Amino acid sequence: MAVLEELLLDRAGLDGDTIDHLQRLLADWQILADLSFADLLLFVDHMLPDATPAYLCVGQMRPYTAQTLYPEDLVGQAFPATARPMLGRAVAQRRVIRDSDPDWSTGVPVREEAIPVRFRGEVVAVVSREANVATARSPSQLELTYLHSAGELAQMLADGTFPYAGDHPEERELSPRVGDGIMRVDAAGTVTFASPNAISAYRRLGSLEHLVGQHLRDFDVGAAALTTALFVGQPVESEVERHGAVVVRRLLPLIRDDDVVGALMLVREITELRRHERALRLKDATIREIHHRVKNNLQTVASLLRLQARRLQSAEAREALAESVRRISSIALVHETLSQESREHVDFYMVARRIVDMVGDGLTDPHVPVAFVLDGEPGELPAEVATPLALVVTELLHNCVEHAFPVGEDTTAPGGTVRLAFDRDAHGLRVVVADDGVGLPPGRALDAIANLGLQIARTLVESELGGTFDATSSAAGTSVRLDVPVPGGASGATPAARVTTTATPPGSG
Ligand SMILES: Nc1ncnc2c1ncn2[C@@H]1O[C@H](COP(=O)(O)OP(=O)(O)O)[C@@H](O)[C@H]1O
Ligand SMILES: [Mg+2]
Repeated sequence: MAVLEELLLDRAGLDGDTIDHLQRLLADWQILADLSFADLLLFVDHMLPDATPAYLCVGQMRPYTAQTLYPEDLVGQAFPATARPMLGRAVAQRRVIRDSDPDWSTGVPVREEAIPVRFRGEVVAVVSREANVATARSPSQLELTYLHSAGELAQMLADGTFPYAGDHPEERELSPRVGDGIMRVDAAGTVTFASPNAISAYRRLGSLEHLVGQHLRDFDVGAAALTTALFVGQPVESEVERHGAVVVRRLLPLIRDDDVVGALMLVREITELRRHERALRLKDATIREIHHRVKNNLQTVASLLRLQARRLQSAEAREALAESVRRISSIALVHETLSQESREHVDFYMVARRIVDMVGDGLTDPHVPVAFVLDGEPGELPAEVATPLALVVTELLHNCVEHAFPVGEDTTAPGGTVRLAFDRDAHGLRVVVADDGVGLPPGRALDAIANLGLQIARTLVESELGGTFDATSSAAGTSVRLDVPVPGGASGATPAARVTTTATPPGSG
C-alpha cells in the first residue's frame, strides 16, 4: 500500500482524503475481481515526459476465481491515453463504459470495462475490469449471481458509494473472500442466494434450515449487527461462535440511488484457525509460566544458600556457597529470559548483559577498577544451549575479576578490561572471554590449574554443548575461546539492529 502513496505523492488534485479513498478501494477490491472473474487495474491521470496524456497504473488485482490476463506486474507503468481509449471515455462521460465486442489484440478474447472511481462527486481515478471470455462457459446460477453482484459493485464504484466511507480495512484480520462462501440478502435481510460453502459454514454453526428464503435473524445468532449494518448501509465484519464452530461474516451493503437494495455477505468458517491460535497461546503461556516458576525456585535455593553462608565461620565454606549462589543465579537468568519471551529461544545478548552486570556488581573488589566490554551479537539460542553457556560465561567472567587483576604488593590495583565477544555464523557461535590481566600461572597445563570453576566450564562446553574449549595465556592476559555448534545453524536470527563489529580480543588470534 505504501506503493500507492509513493506513486500518488505530489500529484495535483489528489489530496489525502482522495488517496485514503483509493487505499480503501485497494483494500476491498479483491471481491470485485473475484465476482467478476476479471483482472482489475487502477489508473490515474498522467503525463508522459513528452507531454502526451497518459494513464498511470497504480493498482492491480488478480482474481482468485479465474486465470489472470496479466501475469506481469503493471503497477507503476504508464500507458498513452490513445492506447486505452475506454479509460478516457469513462472519465469524460462519468459512467461505466462497456466493450460490446471482445478485444482479440492479445490473442485471447478480452472483455474490457472501464469504471470511473468517483469520490465526493469527482472522478478521481478509473478502474479497468478485464475478463478473458474464452474460458467462459454457459454460466451457472452461482456464476450469474457473482457477475450480477459484480455489476452492482462496479456501479457503486462509479457512484462513489464503494469503497465504503469510514470502513477500516486495517482492522480486518481474517476477512473472508468470495471463494470462502458468499450469500446475497435482499434489502429486508432475507437470503436470496447462498453458495455451498456459505451453507456449510452455517451448518457448522448448527442451522440446518435451507438458507434461501430465510431471514438473517432466523439462522444467525449475531444477526442484529448484520441487519443494523444492512439498514444503515455500512459494511460490517464480525465473528459468531456456536457449538464450538467459529464463522466470520462480512456484510457489504449494495447501494443504488442512495437506497440499500440488498447486501453481499462473505462467509468463512475459521474454527480450526481459532482453535489452533488458542492452543498455541495456551502452550506459550504454559511454557512461560513454567520458566517463571523454575526461575523463582532457583532464586529461593540461592537465598537459602546465602542465609546458610551467613551462619558459617569458615571463609572457605562461605566462598564455596557464594560460588554456588552465583552459578544458580546465572541459570535463573536464562529461565527469567525464557519466561519473558514467547518462544523456546533466548536472546542471548540480554542474558550476557545481565551476567556481566551480575559479575560486575557482586564481585569486583571495589578498589580494583575493571571495565567490561560486550562485543558482537550471539543472536538467539535454544534454551538447551543458552543455559549451560550462561553458566560457562559466568565462570569465565568471574575468573577474570577474581584472578586476573590481583592487588599488587604495594597495594596498588591497576585493574583492567574484561571483554566478552560473540561471533555467530552458520556453523555456530564463537565466544571469547579475554582479559588483559596477569595471565594463568605459567608452565602448567590448564588441566593442572583447573579447580571446580574451569572444570565445570570445560565439561559443559565439551560434553553438554559438543563444542571446543581453548585457553591461551601470556603476560598480556588470558583468553578463553569457545566454539559451540548451534542447532538450526544460521536460522537463529540475529537481530540486525544491534550488530556491532567484533573486536579481536587480546590473545585470541
Ligand atoms: N582470567 C584468569 N586470569 C588469571 N588466572 C586465572 C584466570 N582464570 C583462571 N585462572 C587461574 O586458574 C585457576 C582455576 O580457576 P577455576 O577453575 O575457576 O577455580 P577457582 O576460580 O575457584 O580458583 C584459578 O585459581 C587461577 O589461578
Ligand atoms: Mg573460578
